[in-house]
Amino acid sequence: MIKKPIVAANWKMYKTPQEGVFFISELNNLLLDKEKPSIIFCPPFTSLFHMNEMISDLDISLGAQNVYFEKDGAFTGEISMSMLKSCGVQYVIVGHSERRHIFNESNKDTNKKLHTVLENDIVPILCVGEKLEDRESGNTRMILMEQLKDGLVGINKDMIDRMIIAYEPVWAIGTGVNALPSQVEESHAMIWEILLELYDNNIKNNIPILYGGSVKPDNSEELIRTKGVDGFLIGGASLNLDMFSKIIEIVHNKFMR
Ligand code: PGA
Repeated sequence: MIKKPIVAANWKMYKTPQEGVFFISELNNLLLDKEKPSIIFCPPFTSLFHMNEMISDLDISLGAQNVYFEKDGAFTGEISMSMLKSCGVQYVIVGHSERRHIFNESNKDTNKKLHTVLENDIVPILCVGEKLEDRESGNTRMILMEQLKDGLVGINKDMIDRMIIAYEPVWAIGTGVNALPSQVEESHAMIWEILLELYDNNIKNNIPILYGGSVKPDNSEELIRTKGVDGFLIGGASLNLDMFSKIIEIVHNKFMR
């Protein structure tokens, strides 16, 4: 089965609602009538409502950067799945390295969030990836195994089939140093092997695995050609119209030709 490539933008804590709406309309002008990969925007929560009103006629989906696992309640500063859904969210990033390392989210928290997202029929984008010291000490596989095994507790085969995974080595995020295609290929293969191991070889080969970490127009061509890469999760370059639209075209060309 050919998986439609995915280009997801993680805007982190950038762009006001007005800037978000402007970006989408400009991007739409640039890509009008062109065939595109699946494009997912994950803006800050404050932009979701207005961006959703804009994208209804466009071939673009919305994702959130985070969610809280409780349904509702006294959780100051958190956001629920039903709030996100009412803003048109179809995807939620779970376990991003900035959540893990700045906000101390554990694999257990990630797991609870994954359950909440899936129970709401929304697609989680589960991020996994090793730190530089893990890579240098030869522990990449162990870290990926830990994040997947503990993150996927109670997630059955049907549920995993509805997920997206993003391999994002922490040392490549926002640093301008992307992982080499050989490292990406190896890590994506490891993720796939781990999934097969965890699910007794019993999962379909249609779980998209994205790469994220300093993806830019000038490295996206070789990265998208890398075996096992089904698309990108992009931070910095997704904030720039010119760079982001170039990456979209590069991804499209690779898969459609
Ligand atoms: P970057 O971020 O493209 O700026 O490295 C990727 C991410 O954090 O998802």
